[in-house]
Amino acid sequence: MPAKIPFLDLSRFPKKLQTELKNKFSELLEKGIFSGSEEVEILEAELKKYLGAPFLSVCSNGTDALEIALRALNIGQGDDVIVPALSWVSTAEVVLLCGARPVFIDTNSEGLIDLSLLDQVYTSKTKAIIPVHLYGNLVDMPTLIDWAKIKQVKVIEDAAQAFGAFQGNCSAGLFGDIGCFSFYPTKNFGALGEAGALTCKDEELARKLKALINHGQIKRDHHILVGRNARIDTLQAGFLNTILPYFEPWQKQRKFLAHVYLEELKHLEWLKLPRDIEKSTHNAHLFTVQCRERDQLKSYLEEKGVGTSIHYPRIIPKMKPYLFDQNFTASEQLVSHVLSLPLNPFLSQQEVLHICKLIKNFKLK
Ligand SMILES: Cc1ncc(COP(=O)(O)O)c(C=O)c1O
Repeated sequence: MPAKIPFLDLSRFPKKLQTELKNKFSELLEKGIFSGSEEVEILEAELKKYLGAPFLSVCSNGTDALEIALRALNIGQGDDVIVPALSWVSTAEVVLLCGARPVFIDTNSEGLIDLSLLDQVYTSKTKAIIPVHLYGNLVDMPTLIDWAKIKQVKVIEDAAQAFGAFQGNCSAGLFGDIGCFSFYPTKNFGALGEAGALTCKDEELARKLKALINHGQIKRDHHILVGRNARIDTLQAGFLNTILPYFEPWQKQRKFLAHVYLEELKHLEWLKLPRDIEKSTHNAHLFTVQCRERDQLKSYLEEKGVGTSIHYPRIIPKMKPYLFDQNFTASEQLVSHVLSLPLNPFLSQQEVLHICKLIKNFKLK
C-alpha cells in the first residue's frame, strides 16, 4: 500500500500506454504534423461510432464547445439561458461571453437540475437551457426535452463530465440540440492537455459548428461566418486516439471500484452515497459522497494521506461575476456537504478498501 493515495495521479498511466504515447509524439514530430491531419479525422470517426453520434466535431476544449454551441444557435444579447446553480463555472461563463443572461436554477439532492422548477425560472426571453450531467450522472433528459419542446427552448447538454454515460442506446450529448464534451486530462477520457467535442443530429447545424470552430470556413479560404480558432491540436487528437482503446477497460475498473465503495460504506448512516453510480446512465466520473462533517472528514483523510476534492465549494450565483439574488437551497447544501473520494482506473481494490476502512474509523473517533 503506498503511503499516500492521491485523488488522481495521471503519472500512474500503464507503462505500455506511456510508451505508446511517446511513440505517437515521436511519429508526429518526425512527420512534422501539428495541425489538422488524419489523426483528427480518425478521432472524429471513432468517437462518432462509440457515441452513435450522427455528427461530431472535435475542438479545443469543453468551454469553447459550449460557447460555440450557443453561438451556433444564435443565442446572444437579450436572451436568457437557464443554467444550474451548481456546476463548473464554464457553464455560466459561456452564456455571459455570448452576451446572454444566465438564469440560475436550483438542483436536486444529486446536484442535477431540479426539473420541478423549470416553469418557475422560465421567462419570455428564455432561449436555451444547459443541463449539466454533473459527476457523470445523466439528467432525466426525456422529461427535460418534453418541457423544452413545449416551450420552444433549445437544449445544449453540458456533457463535459459524462463521456461514457448512456440511457439505453442514447449517449449523453445526443438528447438535446447540441452536446458538449471535455477531454480535459482529469476526465474519464482525457487528453494530455486541452480538448473537447461537439455532437448534434442536424446536418446544417453540424456544418455551422464545424465552421465556427475554424474561422467560419467551410473549406480553406471560404469564410461563411465569423468564427474563431477552436481547433484541436493534432498532438492531442493523436494522444486521444492512442488512449481510446483503454477507455472501456478503464470504465470497468471505475465501476468495479465504485461497487467496492458502495458495499463497504452502505451501512454508514451519516454518509450519503452517490445514487445510480452503477447504472449505465452514470459514467462513474466522480464518487461524490455527502455528509454534514465534510470539512472534518476531508482534513482527517488528508492527515491519513488520502487526497479528496470538492466539486464544488461555491455555487456560481454566489461568485462575484455571476451574482444572482435568489436562494438555491439544495445547491447551497451541496457545496458544504459534498466530498469526492478517489475514483480512477489507476487505483487498486486494496487502496479503495483502505480508504473505506479509514472512513469507517472516522465516525468511531
Ligand atoms: C461541467 C463542466 N462544464 C464545462 C467544463 C469545461 O471543459 P474544459 O475544461 O475542457 O474547458 C468542465 C470541465 O472541467 C466541466 O466539468
